Amino acid sequence: MKEFLAKPGFMTDAGTLGADLSYLLAVIFTFLFLISWGLAKKGLGTKHHKLIFVSMISMALYFCGYYYARQLGVLALEGKEGFGGPQSVYNNVFVPILTIHLILVTFGLIMAGYMIVQGFRASRRENGDYVLLDQVLKVSSGPFNRVLLIILGLWAANQALLIFVRHASTAASLAWGLIFASIAGVVSLEKLIERWLPNGARRHRILGRGTMIVYALILVTSTLTYLMLYVIYPAKH
Ligand code: HEM
Repeated sequence: MKEFLAKPGFMTDAGTLGADLSYLLAVIFTFLFLISWGLAKKGLGTKHHKLIFVSMISMALYFCGYYYARQLGVLALEGKEGFGGPQSVYNNVFVPILTIHLILVTFGLIMAGYMIVQGFRASRRENGDYVLLDQVLKVSSGPFNRVLLIILGLWAANQALLIFVRHASTAASLAWGLIFASIAGVVSLEKLIERWLPNGARRHRILGRGTMIVYALILVTSTLTYLMLYVIYPAKH
């Protein structure tokens, strides 16, 4: 698989097949999200929800495959190999853009999970179509505590699996702990967000637009990273 992805790419002279494929897929997914924004703007709630769902699932699958096969973001931050430009451009331009890109991707993934759950909570099906309900949307303490308990239970089960079955390292336990803590953090944040934007429909529109802007910025930063690595400053072999 690694050899296959390292073959010459089809978009630029210096690009590899892995880089070209992953960039092209990233562009397609971002466009799917932006098209689903357009559908929501036109009031087509059900089409919007379906397209968001398909793009989210394909994006998640792509991410797993991508990090499994290439671990690019991390590798590119570790050393200058792959970047053929001057050290000053690497330090002052490339690394900051790549760092912003990785932060946006993390934020975008968290927001996507949050928005999908919020979308279902804030809307109802009327005559087969999803419509946002123009009313206060608050989670009561019972379900809220239950969700936090479920997250705690899942963390404990995963932790037991890591220790007794997979004999994983402390670093792996810590990483998983951080993932579960982030999920619990986002769920808890909902209580603050509710106070700030009590109306469920308004919350979905405002946070949804913010999320879509993050996706557009991910497209900009990944394009800049691609251009710098494979067009402007390709590695000299
Ligand atoms: C990543 C997930 C999601 C994002 C980023 C998102 C974003 C948005 C945005 C930005 C709007 C307002 C469009 C505008 O006026 O500018 C909107 C509207 C809407 N969304 Fe979502 N959404 C997401 C998931 C969902 C889900 C899962 C559902 C349903 C289960 C849903 C149902 C709706 C509905 C019904 C509207 C109103 C459309 C209308 O104005 O009639 N959304 N969404």
